[in-house]
Amino acid sequence: MRIDVVSIFPEYLAPLDVSLVGKARAKGLLDVRLHQLRDQAHDVHRTVDDTPYGGGPGMVMKPEPWAAALEEVAPLDGESVPRLIVPTPSGRPFTQELAVELAAEPWLVFAPARYEGIDRRVIEDAATRMRVDEVSIGDYVLAGGEVAVLVMVEAVARLLPGVLGNAESVRDDSFAPGAMANLLEGPVYTKPAEWRGREVPPVLLSGNHGAIARWRRDQALARTAENRPDLLERLTAGEADKKDRAT
Ligand code: ADE
Repeated sequence: MRIDVVSIFPEYLAPLDVSLVGKARAKGLLDVRLHQLRDQAHDVHRTVDDTPYGGGPGMVMKPEPWAAALEEVAPLDGESVPRLIVPTPSGRPFTQELAVELAAEPWLVFAPARYEGIDRRVIEDAATRMRVDEVSIGDYVLAGGEVAVLVMVEAVARLLPGVLGNAESVRDDSFAPGAMANLLEGPVYTKPAEWRGREVPPVLLSGNHGAIARWRRDQALARTAENRPDLLERLTAGEADKKDRAT
């Protein structure tokens, strides 16, 4: 998969060199290219923002540098067309489902904004030739979209074939589709079996795989009820049945 990121702070994306994403890049599974938006602003100050029409606080990112940057990354006469992701708190929610969808794309371009956002016409213009999604990573406001890009790239990269050592760790994720869909993952333990007087739940040492699976489901239900009761309402009928049988 190829990922391009256009930003006035490409150095903010330095963590993409590290750990899972860094290894995926080193293995050639992910081709990440960072671009400086200001390279497309040609006045002495390399200006990328201006005051908003209609008044109001803050500044708006100018259309010309963004259009030039996007067209340099994905030329208008290019053979393939990327999917453009614009992080913004006013976008559709970023979910595991969207991460799975994006992981199937060959090419993503991220356009993280600073200030009050990008002139609307850039998004409308891009949408005439590529799929564009405005995406929010949560109901809070960051200083810019770069951190949202880090979040999305990591969530997508770990789903790419060959990136995670153990394919099962994706299967059991909180929010992964399947038997435990819509349940949060329960607690996990490792050695030693007793630590500071606290024992690992004996069922996990029992070797009884059925009992372990039931215990994990109960823990997942309890944690979901505690932290995300809204998710329990989305349980499928099958899930609810299993829940009844487990209690
Ligand atoms: N930019 C600022 N806040 C954001 C958020 N919550 N999600 C995505 N991009 C953002």
